Amino acid sequence: PRVLVLCGGLSHERDVSLSSGHRVAGFLEDTGKWDVAIHDVDNALLDFLTDPATRPDIVWPLLHGSYGEDGSIRDVLEMVDLPYIGSRAKASMLAWNKPIAKNIVRKIGRLHTPHSVTLPQEVFRELGVQPIINHIVNSLGLPLIVKPSMGGSALGCTVVHDIAQLPQALVDCFAYAHTALIEHFVEGTEVSVSILDTGDEIIALPALEISTPHGIYDYSERYTPGETEFIVPARLDSDVLERVKDDALTAYQVLGMRDISRIDFIVDRDGIPQFLEANVTPGMTDVSILPRQAVAAGFNLGDLYSRIVESVLS
Ligand code: DAL
Ligand code: MG
Repeated sequence: PRVLVLCGGLSHERDVSLSSGHRVAGFLEDTGKWDVAIHDVDNALLDFLTDPATRPDIVWPLLHGSYGEDGSIRDVLEMVDLPYIGSRAKASMLAWNKPIAKNIVRKIGRLHTPHSVTLPQEVFRELGVQPIINHIVNSLGLPLIVKPSMGGSALGCTVVHDIAQLPQALVDCFAYAHTALIEHFVEGTEVSVSILDTGDEIIALPALEISTPHGIYDYSERYTPGETEFIVPARLDSDVLERVKDDALTAYQVLGMRDISRIDFIVDRDGIPQFLEANVTPGMTDVSILPRQAVAAGFNLGDLYSRIVESVLS
């Protein structure tokens, strides 16, 4: 069967996506089971998907960031009736929007997520800096983390320890998104759980702990090998590890995700997992979390990725 890996595109995470796409394509090719093509998304996509000479049997969208994770390219795939790996367009749209995802997950009543406020850029402009920062700090206290409400790879994110840093953090955030999500910054252990549906079973890979001795897990920490320490399984008590796994599966289900996802948490000092976000297209580069977890759990990546493709094709 012909597998088309979509990567690149025009989001801020273009380079990461090219790297994820080429890695996954390489592992699939090495199994000898697939005729793998890679398409760097451009205006010719629709022709490529519909021309009988190039039309694939299945698509793996490895586009990070907007278009790839917000559902828009997935809508196109649904329109041309092609099966693809990952969450449907509508579920992607919800998960990609961090404030919406937090609300959905919180409403089940069992999962926790850090206190937050959302701030559209126009409100920031209209009300002015001082009332806004007073409101934020009165509502949430310090420290805070400012994030684009939609975005990935920590681009536009700043941890704010001092109120004086907040205006610049908001300006930096608005360079990436129209709405800022400002969360209370929870001290604790940062962990991720990847979820994979192989058709036979839904697998939650062991929780991976991200340890960043030099600051936060930002863009350069993510993609500079050796900067960050990854510990699998995370150094947490076994009951907490179980809870993180259960919460990740619950978030995946209530957000209506499919096939593949990575759910990120901070486990606070009381051992409570605080949901941060659900990634529609988790990074699959050679330094990314999901492949590290899979290898630590004893999977061969080519076999594992093939099982996912097979389950969607069947
Ligand atoms: N947004 C990046 C690719 C990740 O979550 O891994
Ligand atoms: Mg993310």
